[in-house]
Amino acid sequence: MSERREPEMCVLLESDWARGSLVDDVRRGLTRHPRTLPPRWLYDDHGSALFDRITRLPEYYPFNAERAILAAHADEIVSASGATTLVELGSGTSEKTRLLLDAFTGAGQLTRFAPVDVSEGTLREAAAQIADAYPGLEVVGVVGDFTLHLAHLPRGGRRMVAFLGGTIGNLYLEERSAFLGALADLLEPGDSVLLGTDLVKSTDRLIAAYNDEAGVTEEFIRNSLTVVNRELGADFDPGAFSYIPFWDAHMERIDMRLRAEVPQRVNVPGADLVLDLAVGEEIRVEISTKFRVSKIAAELEAAGLDVARVWTDEPGDFALTLAVKP
Ligand code: AVJ
Repeated sequence: MSERREPEMCVLLESDWARGSLVDDVRRGLTRHPRTLPPRWLYDDHGSALFDRITRLPEYYPFNAERAILAAHADEIVSASGATTLVELGSGTSEKTRLLLDAFTGAGQLTRFAPVDVSEGTLREAAAQIADAYPGLEVVGVVGDFTLHLAHLPRGGRRMVAFLGGTIGNLYLEERSAFLGALADLLEPGDSVLLGTDLVKSTDRLIAAYNDEAGVTEEFIRNSLTVVNRELGADFDPGAFSYIPFWDAHMERIDMRLRAEVPQRVNVPGADLVLDLAVGEEIRVEISTKFRVSKIAAELEAAGLDVARVWTDEPGDFALTLAVKP
């Protein structure tokens, strides 16, 4: 019988990294137009709890849609990948990943699971729970940023790198191609990528998913200002902003902004910055790009990967694409 193996942890982020990169992001983002704050900073403890609530909102279909695909097709995904190592980027609590891990262990195929996340606390907890649930599995938690630390992913065995949830939609076009290119470059022939992407659908449903009745998404986006207040000693008044989500039909993405409702001067001492905001000035906090199957395939192929299979849920709301490094 296999025994529980203690998870190994590999910490690639220095403890002051987060703060330093928040300072850079805030300086760069808040002084350009449109002003931006990168979505990475939405996930402090409060933000992570809010996102968890978002996944349970009736309007927020992507979470359940992806889970339905995994529930229906995990066995096919596992056998099509032929992988013995599962790497998960932005793994969070690894909740849905269990559907893949179950299929992998059912097939007797998996030896190693390597979740990668910037949040060390969440990662440690998730790694311990997975190690408990899957005796004999080697669990290697990597504390790192998937845009910066791809070169440090565990090597050896045939790997499948899962990037789920539609998180790739948070990246801008240039960032996406840089990320997919870097990922493809470090894979060995036969390694694969499993990419979760939300699909283009009616504007009404898209807007509803990001502008829910209960106001949880609004609170999630507004929390970005609270994070900057706490971490950099800023004096944003979150109540002085309204939440403006809209569908950018040209870029095919939801654009989530905060708009100043009163003129204001904001001090951000930690970034050595003073901002004067006029009424109506906006800060873009997040984009969530929606895809078409053809667009996903084109971007993966451009990065040097071959699309092997695409799975969608019954209504065609979400897609999982498996692409292999030739
Ligand atoms: C976690 C990036 C996939 O874009 O749908 C949900 C984040 N933001 N509601 C998404 C989010 C507002 C989510 N991702």
